[in-house]
Amino acid sequence: MTRAGGRPQTRFVCQSCGESFLRWEGQCRACNAWNSLVESVVREPRRTAARRAPSTDPAARPTSLAAVVEPLVGRQRVGISELDRVLGGGLVAGSVVLVGGEPGIGKSTLLLQAAAGVVASGGSSVLYATGEESAAQVRLRAARLGLLDGPAAEAIRVVAESDVGRIAEFARAERPDVVVVDSIQTATVDELDGAAGSVGQVRESALRLMELAKGEGIAVVLVGHVTKDGSLAGPKTLEHLVDAVINIEGERFAALRLVRASKNRFGSIEEVGVFEMGDVGLSEVADPARAFLSEHDAPAAGSVVAPTLEGSRPILVEVQALVAPGNVGMPRRTASGVDSNRIGLLIAVLGRRAGIGLATHDVYVNLAGGLSVGEPGLDLPIALALASSLRDRPVRDLTVAIGEVGLLGELRPVAGVDRRLREAARLGFRRAVVPVGARGAAVGRVNGMEVLPVGTLREAIEVSLGGAAERVASAPARC
Ligand code: TYD
Ligand code: MG
Repeated sequence: MTRAGGRPQTRFVCQSCGESFLRWEGQCRACNAWNSLVESVVREPRRTAARRAPSTDPAARPTSLAAVVEPLVGRQRVGISELDRVLGGGLVAGSVVLVGGEPGIGKSTLLLQAAAGVVASGGSSVLYATGEESAAQVRLRAARLGLLDGPAAEAIRVVAESDVGRIAEFARAERPDVVVVDSIQTATVDELDGAAGSVGQVRESALRLMELAKGEGIAVVLVGHVTKDGSLAGPKTLEHLVDAVINIEGERFAALRLVRASKNRFGSIEEVGVFEMGDVGLSEVADPARAFLSEHDAPAAGSVVAPTLEGSRPILVEVQALVAPGNVGMPRRTASGVDSNRIGLLIAVLGRRAGIGLATHDVYVNLAGGLSVGEPGLDLPIALALASSLRDRPVRDLTVAIGEVGLLGELRPVAGVDRRLREAARLGFRRAVVPVGARGAAVGRVNGMEVLPVGTLREAIEVSLGGAAERVASAPARC
């Protein structure tokens, strides 16, 4: 779109082939992709001219790897140790972090607490730009979090602004350690006509905020809303731009929140942080390994505890399954926190390889506490929970299970079995059903816990649900 008055031009650029157009069209005329045109600002040509001029900066020339100067990574701790760990030790000056999560999960709460933490751990000030709420609403939340009495009350500077140019101006004037932009979906740049939240606006806003971060050495934190299907709406295009992507997961109406990085240029993505939402914001959970376990008075059919590994941290989680007679031909498969395709596969394997026929049953599978787990090690606990629910018989008391299930009904080892089992033993579990050949599982006991290595799903069901197969259970214990 060409404008009078010397304002920068915008073009609609196809995200799939890169062709640009003056007007928006539903289909790209060059490559025929649908809905691929995104409004973008035409960059000033002087930038390319400058780039072509011979550079005097030694860093811009090829250098031997050994001679490259080690970067000085200045980190600002956010003072919340679970979050600092996930970040890899704190926020890196000049970096951009995207914090994603569903609406209402606690992004604004966590970032306001982190802003206060930055101040408490030596930071001079934080600029909190909110396009979602008024400054008064942010103050209300700060009051609830008890931040109005401390030094944070002075050092956190709030501005209700969504224009990125203005936010950058404030940041350059005030020179805070950290700028929080809540949220990137409300951020806009002047030159684009698209509505806030459109791909063009989101991407251009993020690019400008990156320039701010790199140019001024300020850490910039962007809040991004995630849609129901789990993708960062609009900001999906940001994931590869930013330095780190931190996700807050959990069920909005449950208290527990899992914070983990899906990308981190300045740290590992192996770390997870566990928080609990309470009356005064998010607090760190003292014993994360047991946080996602629900308490039962007695063993319940359909419930199996799985020692999962979230990054490098073992977390025990309860898998719950319910099977009930359903409509012939149209059985329901409903899963929450686990991959529903995997459930379909496990139902097929259970039917063909283990004599557990669920073809005409409705099946519901759920992870307690709102956790989502993607690892294949959850196969065995899910399959056991389904079998337990169908037979209406609880698994043996204080038993955990872990392992991947193959199409032939065989069990495959998972990584880090030893670490998982030690954690389960620490929490008082007495028995673990694991795949044969899992490292660390060859021994009969781990910290007093009996380890039952099994080769097939059928065997695992017999061992776990007891009954006629109790004899099988005693076999491995002898070794
Ligand atoms: P919020 O941080 O506004 O979520 P987001 O920015 O991700 O949309 O948090 C929203 C929820 O958290 C809201 O339902 C209220 C709840 N909450 C608490 O339970 N305790 C608290 O101390 C605060 C500040 C919020
Ligand atoms: Mg918010």
